[in-house]
Amino acid sequence: MKIINNIKELKEEIKILKRKNSSIGLVPTMGALHNGHKSLIERAVSENEDTIVSIFVNPIQFGVNEDLDKYPRTLDNDLELCKNAGVSIVFCPSIEEMYQGIDKNDLTLICPPYCVLDKLCAKSRNGHFDGVLSVVAKLFNLTHATKAYFGQKDAQQLFIVKKMVKDLNFDIEIIPCPIVREQDGLALSSRNKYLNQDERKIALNIFKSLEGAKKLVKMGINDPKKIVDNSLMLMKEMDVEYIEFVDIETFEIQSEINKNTLMLIAAKTPISKTRLIDNMMICE
Ligand code: PAJ
Repeated sequence: MKIINNIKELKEEIKILKRKNSSIGLVPTMGALHNGHKSLIERAVSENEDTIVSIFVNPIQFGVNEDLDKYPRTLDNDLELCKNAGVSIVFCPSIEEMYQGIDKNDLTLICPPYCVLDKLCAKSRNGHFDGVLSVVAKLFNLTHATKAYFGQKDAQQLFIVKKMVKDLNFDIEIIPCPIVREQDGLALSSRNKYLNQDERKIALNIFKSLEGAKKLVKMGINDPKKIVDNSLMLMKEMDVEYIEFVDIETFEIQSEINKNTLMLIAAKTPISKTRLIDNMMICE
């Protein structure tokens, strides 16, 4: 496995892979790898001749009051996980290498469609998705990947990335991968590291709300208000940012539940104020 920090060297390696006519799988990450990331990486390795994992805590997708400085960094463990999974290249550039010290205001950015900017995570995380799309586009261009793997855990991110690929004619296939959870249901996240035991228990109520919604729908109760009330009761110790229902295909907010309904939640824990997100198809 090659560990590459600079763009010039990465380009040289990609040239070699292209000459071999290799199919290239890309898994973009911010490191602190867990079993969720691992599932994406293993899928990429199984479907491509060569897999590239990028590890880069992308500063331009963090807001001013967000957790860029304390975001967990566990490079040695991450490299070990990649090596064991059969990854060909880990690309872990510095901020300087990616952005040459240029301020976000001086960078060319890719903006998601305006119609998604007023909903879900985009609403509270100003500038988050233009930071995500810009780094993802850079990674697509740098790696010439055939397929790129994204988790359904970040459902709005997945939707926006797929939309960018379609709208800007990127020559890459986006592969959505299912959410990996702890045994009790908590969705794996690098940010779970911020939770102490009590908060860990409280955080589980996000999953319980989604499961609860599924049960209500099964019982024939599909009034969104009743589902929201039930969720708010379960998450009473958390600071709930949103509970929304969207059409999985269009990401339009729905006022009625149907077989296409994806329910999404963002909520903060009470002590460490960790912002967690999760989602589930509630009519399955
Ligand atoms: P990061 O949070 O490190 O996540 C990297 C990828 O792993 C994303 O596609 C995410 O959806 C997926 N992932 C995270 N937790 C998961 C889980 N429990 N189950 C399945 N997949 C999971 O998302 C980012 O990084 C960044 O925004 C990035 C795309 C790398 C751009 O900087």
